[in-house]
Amino acid sequence: MDLTHFTLDLDEDGIATVLMDRAGEEMNTLAPELSDDLAAVLDRLEQDPAIRGVVLGSAKPANFHAGADIRAFADLDETSAVATLQDVQDAFDRIEGLTKRAGKPVVAAIHGACLGGGLELALACSARISSDDEAVTQFGQPEVKLGLLPGAGGTQRLPRLIGIAAALDLILSGRTVRPRRAHKLGLVDAVVPADQLLGAAHAHALAALDPAPKPPLSLADRAKQILQPAELQSLALERNPLGRKVLFAQAEKKMLAQTRGNYPAPPAALECVRIGFEEGIEAGLAAERAAFARLVNTPESRALRSIFFATQELKRDTGTESDAEAREISTVGVLGGGLMGGGITAVNTTRAGVRTVIKEVDAAGVARGIGYVQKVLDTQVKRRRMQKADAWLAMQRRVEGTENYDALSGVDIVIEAVFEDLNLKRSVLADVERVTRSDTIFASNTSSIPIGDIAAGAERPGQILGMHYFSPVEKMPLLEVIVTDQTEDWVTATAVAFGKRQGKTVIVVNDAPGFYTTRILGPYSAEVLYLLEDGATVEEIDGALKDWGFPVGPVTLSDEVGIDVGAKIGKILEGAFGERMAAPPAFAALIDDDRKGRKNGRGFYQYEDGKKGDVDESVYAVLGVEPRPGTVSRREIQDRLSLQMVNEAVRCLEDGVLRSARDGDIGAVMGLGFPPFRGGPFRWVDQLGPGTTVETLQRLAKEHGSRFDPAPLLVEMAADGSTFHTA
Ligand code: NAI
Repeated sequence: MDLTHFTLDLDEDGIATVLMDRAGEEMNTLAPELSDDLAAVLDRLEQDPAIRGVVLGSAKPANFHAGADIRAFADLDETSAVATLQDVQDAFDRIEGLTKRAGKPVVAAIHGACLGGGLELALACSARISSDDEAVTQFGQPEVKLGLLPGAGGTQRLPRLIGIAAALDLILSGRTVRPRRAHKLGLVDAVVPADQLLGAAHAHALAALDPAPKPPLSLADRAKQILQPAELQSLALERNPLGRKVLFAQAEKKMLAQTRGNYPAPPAALECVRIGFEEGIEAGLAAERAAFARLVNTPESRALRSIFFATQELKRDTGTESDAEAREISTVGVLGGGLMGGGITAVNTTRAGVRTVIKEVDAAGVARGIGYVQKVLDTQVKRRRMQKADAWLAMQRRVEGTENYDALSGVDIVIEAVFEDLNLKRSVLADVERVTRSDTIFASNTSSIPIGDIAAGAERPGQILGMHYFSPVEKMPLLEVIVTDQTEDWVTATAVAFGKRQGKTVIVVNDAPGFYTTRILGPYSAEVLYLLEDGATVEEIDGALKDWGFPVGPVTLSDEVGIDVGAKIGKILEGAFGERMAAPPAFAALIDDDRKGRKNGRGFYQYEDGKKGDVDESVYAVLGVEPRPGTVSRREIQDRLSLQMVNEAVRCLEDGVLRSARDGDIGAVMGLGFPPFRGGPFRWVDQLGPGTTVETLQRLAKEHGSRFDPAPLLVEMAADGSTFHTA
């Protein structure tokens, strides 16, 4: 057989080992160019009487099968999508048929990613053996994250294998599971060390051919099996139509609470599972094809895919135009062991695997920083991402605290996370320059102070930049690297490479007040106060923006960030950009009333023992406003707030703060929770049309003032019909 993307070896036991090895690619993916090979393999497996069973594995070092090649989706229209899926479904049906119709067991041997179409392929096999490598091996149907659904039988075979509730959980959330969990779910039959994988799969295939009679279960074991509460529940619910109705209704309710109706894929996936159970698997597969074909061209799926591609591109982006190379980082100094310093040290320890020296002002500060890291490590151990012994070793070897600058003498980079105060930042910078090597980089995690101001008067301004993290650092995916016109390219390249090692998606922006993310938050936060003045209630504002797709409403956000912090940043932005960033004068009353938000338990909301409660109604009187529910429509609230953010983002591109619209989209989605299904501020303008965006802004400017004047670039684009992104 002459195969390009597969190998097939038949041994004397009659077991054929088929290894997938897509030529010229790092990963195995589904693509039309593989179909001839796959058909040839299936012909042989079906027709060769010497083949009694099959082991299906991968020749890639850390990838079983990553599913469909997402790049190819762009070319699909509804008709071609249905035809493509039909082909894949037919091929997977032939795989299933090897066992069901020809009596040849097919055992998938899985090491590395087994995702999307890759998992659906494994589901068509008669058994699945997984490697025990929790770091690289994972299973999931992540299609909904791209606005799609499993289209190659996943909505049919997965619930039949692991039960409806467990399958819906995976399909509707898109989350992945590691081998141990997959085994518990019944998704895989056994978990073995990676180097024994093919052998174990082979043995499994042989055993399936000649099944030894199972000893009958003892009465006690049977009782145990039947009486497990989860088992009982699933039996009761899943085996009868009425119970299934309850189950689907529960799943739908949970899904709607999460998606607020903004994401078309999860309800479509749910419907396919339901049809499969009510009308049979053929109808379920047809529903899959139709739903996928409809979803693939929705704006939501396009937007979600664009974010995926941008993230991939940014992984390859060095952060500079030149070929400056990143230098090796092995030891990091972190100034300040507070919320941010602790979080940065945590990702240094768990993700980047480097040593960190935390410098604090006193022993209590050191303890706070180290305590933060310990908490993150404990969570990792609890979630089984890390062994207890490894966590202990990491703490011993990689984390150190000091009150003394001399301990920083050997570090490669210092990341500063002391209080947000220019003079303090300048003074710690001078201290750092005094004790560190001549090639040590100084990065500030300031959230609003221009890096140029911090660097003014520095000895080595070329080695200073901003590394702006988001809270909580161990969870938030974005890092905004800020460069001044003096920052040297190797410094930028080193910071970007290091951010990636910390597990971050990194965008590079030019230095200016508020950089990108803080700046676009400015007019958005100020608009909240204007809306309150116009009679909108706190609940209406937060609800409207959550409906629009933000994970938290802007009023809640203000309490979380700190009203005092917001006020300080607002002043800086107003000083730099003028009136459009200004909050209404009444805002000062909140500060005078000592409302700082969650941290002092006094804000727009009430807090009890750190828990957020209802709106604190007294806040209206403090602001001197009167809540008049229903005065400002939900749509108007959404337009005013979202367009403030979007318009400012466009100005950031215009001013050269952003290198590209792509970076602006990623920064807003990953740093601020801009709705992913809208693709980010720039994709969103493309979708609305620059013309419509300008018209709405002009109307708002007429009604509410010049703070809504459209950015000149938008006006230009509206006139010449251009968009930020092509296609
Ligand atoms: P924090 O108040 O939790 O921590 C600051 C720490 O710096 C304190 O533990 C303090 O003892 C320490 N410190 C003060 N002077 C020091 C000195 N001379 N040497 C060593 N340590 C010193 O503050 P947080 O929230 O961690 O913020 C730190 C920086 O990160 C600020 O510039 C802030 O604007 C920025 N930032 C904060 C974000 C947030 O969400 N909290 C997000 C992004 C940036």
